[in-house]
Amino acid sequence: MFLGAKKVFFNLFFISENKITTPDNLFLDIICRFEFINVMFMNKAKKPWPTKDAMEQVYEMNLWGGHPSSFYSGMGSHDPKITIPYITALTTFLTSFKDPLIVCDLGCGDFNIGKELVSLTKKYIAIDIVTDLIVYNRKHFKQENLEFHCLDIATDNIPNGDCAIIRQVLQHLSNTEILSILKKLSGFKYIIVTEHLPEGNFIPNKDIISGQGIRLKKQSGIDLLVAPFNFKIKEKKQLVSFSSNSHKGIIITTLYTLF
Ligand SMILES: C[S@@+](CC[C@H](N)C(=O)[O-])C[C@H]1O[C@@H](n2cnc3c(N)ncnc32)[C@H](O)[C@@H]1O
Repeated sequence: MFLGAKKVFFNLFFISENKITTPDNLFLDIICRFEFINVMFMNKAKKPWPTKDAMEQVYEMNLWGGHPSSFYSGMGSHDPKITIPYITALTTFLTSFKDPLIVCDLGCGDFNIGKELVSLTKKYIAIDIVTDLIVYNRKHFKQENLEFHCLDIATDNIPNGDCAIIRQVLQHLSNTEILSILKKLSGFKYIIVTEHLPEGNFIPNKDIISGQGIRLKKQSGIDLLVAPFNFKIKEKKQLVSFSSNSHKGIIITTLYTLF
């Protein structure tokens, strides 16, 4: 890459300054200028940021919407047409146990949804990678059985529990990060995953750089049970789904039972 850049620099300035104007060199000159721009700017722009920086920027710049200087996790966390059926389905699941479950909410976001589930659990451990968001949530959502932790679920240890909720989180992450998260979930009996997917058939698990966007723009979405994830489960059950014309694609919540 460095040698390539050096060569492009050499060609760019040597040819330009010596005014060699044969058609071949003119063509090379033009190619070099394009290559120079590509090497210097385009490749740089594609280099992934650390996920923490990317997610912090999403909230700082309200890239998922909401009022400036508020934490807002997107329409999927606030549109009642999406949130109410989801909360209803999770309420049915969480109240079906005689002994309430310990739940880990991995990527809890602004907690507009999580706050409705805390009282249905024995203990609710809410985790997000964005430090200021966790500080805000700690201040605004207080319940005896509720804790907040600032962790990167791809690189840090995840607390133990009975059920992990991962709602519209994996869709924003690269395949490498998803693989690393899945390796940490083997202690949970239940995993409830919500993903925004293209409607109909699609090629699953096209890779992306972690950040604001999701695979929908590539006509792809996450399927944990196929390559490269090949997640091993005992049972799979769809709990709820939402599709509408205004929101492209379909938001599906799946319950995986691991053992
Ligand atoms: C679209 S929001 C969804 C929030 C919430 N689950 C909901 O459905 O309302 C995705 C959240 O995942 C968090 N997140 C992304 N990568 C993470 C990581 N590696 N570790 C912890 N949290 C992460 C983001 O900071 C963001 O708050």
